[in-house]
Amino acid sequence: MPNRPYIVGNWKMNGTRAQMAEARAIDRGAARHAGVRVGIAPPFTLISTMVEAVQVLIVGGQDCHARISGAFTGDVSAVMLKDVGAGFVIVGHSERRSMHGESDADVKAKAQAALEAGLEVIVCVGETEAQRDAGQAEAVVCAQLDGSLPREEGVAQRVTVAYEPVWAIGTGRVASPDDVRAMHAAIRARLIALYGDGAAAVRILYGGSVNAGNAAELFAVDEVGGALVGGASLTADSFLSIVTAADPALD
Ligand code: 13P
Repeated sequence: MPNRPYIVGNWKMNGTRAQMAEARAIDRGAARHAGVRVGIAPPFTLISTMVEAVQVLIVGGQDCHARISGAFTGDVSAVMLKDVGAGFVIVGHSERRSMHGESDADVKAKAQAALEAGLEVIVCVGETEAQRDAGQAEAVVCAQLDGSLPREEGVAQRVTVAYEPVWAIGTGRVASPDDVRAMHAAIRARLIALYGDGAAAVRILYGGSVNAGNAAELFAVDEVGGALVGGASLTADSFLSIVTAADPALD
């Protein structure tokens, strides 16, 4: 992996305050793996509480609005996330793209807002099963990168890309190491075209049914800089197994 592996839990719409016990346990476990950067994106309602409860975990949002403030009922801005201590925000998750109709331009505007607010940003991309079957997976993902990634000077340092094939999310089906290798290589090439030398700083995470059983094999693949984990991030036991698999000190 190019730099310290990054393992991020996306809790999606899961977790009430009772779930904070798991967050504390994850934090204690993460403290034993200094070689791994560990983050959790809980629902908005838990961000502030989690920030106060943890020592080493980076806490983030799962989405933000592109504007700083205004008449946008139900939305949360990047500035608000920063204000409660978030360190990053995920934008362009396939569930946002498909269920909330977010376009690449929307995702890019959100990413820019996040960077302007001083957050890091995780930009998600990934093809559907029909697109993969049609042989379009790389073209779709590269077009998403072109349309979704902010390009301002110097931003690459705070950008992470998460490759999440839609058909692998929450399904128990994982992309094969060969497919992950090919896609991450294509993403790296695109990042170099977009950011030049700055591309070296950008981690490329894999997401989609990552669990304790398949993590080590995925992390051995070239250009896999970590994982964006959904279901398996909800308990300390399963999430910490993935963190352990990513720890270069334990190779
Ligand atoms: P699962 O790990 O539950 O497949 O979810 C992946 C994901 O969407 C993370 O953002």
